Amino acid sequence: MCGIIGIVGDKPVSDRLVEGLRRLEYRGYDSAGIATATPAITRRRAEGKLDNLVSVLADRPLTGIIGIGHTRWATHGAPTESNAHPHATEQVAVVHNGIIENFRELREELAAKGHQFESETDSEVIAHLVTAGMAEGLSPQQAASAAIGQLHGAFALGILFAGQDNLLIGARRGSPLVVGYGDGEMYLSSDAMAVGPLSNRICYLAEGDWVELTRDSAIIHDETGAVVEREIRSSTVAAESIDKGNFPHFMLKEIYEQPTVIGDTLNTYFNALSGGAFMPEMPFDMAQVPKVTIVACGTAAYAGFVAKYWFEQIARLGVETDIASEFRYREAAMPDGGVAIFISQSGETADTLAALRYAKSQGQYIVSIVNVPESSIARESDVVLPTHAGPEIGVASTKAFTCQLTVLACLVLTFARARGAIDDATVDRLCSSLAHVPELSRDVLQHDDRILSIAKDMTEARDVLYLGRGSLFPLAMEGALKLKEISYIHAEGYAAGEMKHGPIALVDDGVPIIVLAPSGRLFEKTVSNMHEVIARKGQVFLMSDEQGLKDAGPVPHSIALPAVDDFIAPILYAVPVQLLAYHLSVLKGTDIDQPRNLAKSVTVE
Ligand code: G6P
Repeated sequence: MCGIIGIVGDKPVSDRLVEGLRRLEYRGYDSAGIATATPAITRRRAEGKLDNLVSVLADRPLTGIIGIGHTRWATHGAPTESNAHPHATEQVAVVHNGIIENFRELREELAAKGHQFESETDSEVIAHLVTAGMAEGLSPQQAASAAIGQLHGAFALGILFAGQDNLLIGARRGSPLVVGYGDGEMYLSSDAMAVGPLSNRICYLAEGDWVELTRDSAIIHDETGAVVEREIRSSTVAAESIDKGNFPHFMLKEIYEQPTVIGDTLNTYFNALSGGAFMPEMPFDMAQVPKVTIVACGTAAYAGFVAKYWFEQIARLGVETDIASEFRYREAAMPDGGVAIFISQSGETADTLAALRYAKSQGQYIVSIVNVPESSIARESDVVLPTHAGPEIGVASTKAFTCQLTVLACLVLTFARARGAIDDATVDRLCSSLAHVPELSRDVLQHDDRILSIAKDMTEARDVLYLGRGSLFPLAMEGALKLKEISYIHAEGYAAGEMKHGPIALVDDGVPIIVLAPSGRLFEKTVSNMHEVIARKGQVFLMSDEQGLKDAGPVPHSIALPAVDDFIAPILYAVPVQLLAYHLSVLKGTDIDQPRNLAKSVTVE
């Protein structure tokens, strides 16, 4: 949420700041801006997407060999140019990711001393605080450190000083910040991907650290001010490309990557020849775990909700699931020695991280499933189970979700075996179905044209309902979320059996209803609920397999997917719901990869 880039260079930085921001735009795209010290602080800022800033720079280029840049997801203050970062005084410019909780008090104190503010943001106060410190005779370093000490809340910062072309200060508390080591240049960024083209030697600042960057050095201080050493590592994400290839959108590319990345993820936790699923060594005995708690946000939470069905049915282990923003404040009772699983594509989601810390304080073993193995959530976990989805750029999560499900499926099988919860024949059946997921997901993609034609029938819809039972219920919610976030069509996912307790009142011939019903254990029940809807003129679109379509009786619209075991159905049915949301959004002409008001990495509560 909000992206930061900084360069202390020996050649012009403007283009490279913009290039870094392009790789950070997934973190927010309400406005963008850059500042350099030439030696005066000079800024260019623009409301909206980064391309608007690029146009501004084309008219009014920015020189300078040191600079900072920012792409914003608005928290305090509308997404206008005057609220865009960098915020600056004559002496100091600042980019900020996070929220300064005590900004009103600080702002009042500074205003009383004569400071004038030009934005509605919480962030501008930081530039003024540092400026005030320097006016009292502090050095830039001392003033920055003193200002950081006065801030409450979460932040990552980049601070630039007028007249200083060899000093950039970064700081982190609660929001990630990476230092990149170049040749005669140093970089600062919210993530390793943004410094990728510049450097693959990086260092993740620890909580509370601040850093003085010059062209040749990075002096890192911990929260007490002491100079500390932090590990410099080579970054793997850094080199990965983030282009769309031949696809019109990242989202479509990422949907089509699923057979490959599910396969890559499966290869890490599953070997059909040597007994199926396996896990790295765990600091607990799976057979003795009293309870599992699964917590995440958004799409990742739906992966957790699917896993609840799996854990309970297959491993016979009680699972509590919750979304992180609720879990973190409800003071859940957790048994000693329980296992708490946190799922996150970015590994930086603020609520998920806070929930993790709560679970840790309650004596839980922390297992995380993340797509960024060096993320904050990963670094605070006892066990990290990486997904191998590769960089996911589309804001709506697709391949990360199916990879999360893949890891969870392997984890459940490992628990089930350790607990003696399933017999050998069941193990064989589940393993064999899991082994086929990559190839079956490829088969599902073959139905893309049919899904497009279904989407064409739905373009006028104002509301859409998704129905499923069992592990397909979370998929119904995920389908609805995908549709809402990228097409802006209102959609809800319901447990099919719950329809008659209220939502069926919404049904008329203008409300498309997507029914997810693979033939299997819950098929007949789901189909009964579907017919209750059809009887009320509901426009049903049934997603099932050949057998299911045959058994379902007459249905207005349908799509025949490959026949799959119940166990893996949630992974495979994710693909058509993603494609449906995608095509409907293309037909509606929305901004698919960067839907309005959203950001991919949500580092504020
Ligand atoms: C944001 C994204 C969602 C994502 C959620 C959780 O809301 O738009 O796509 O599912 O955050 O993100 P995480 O990185 O923790 O999986």
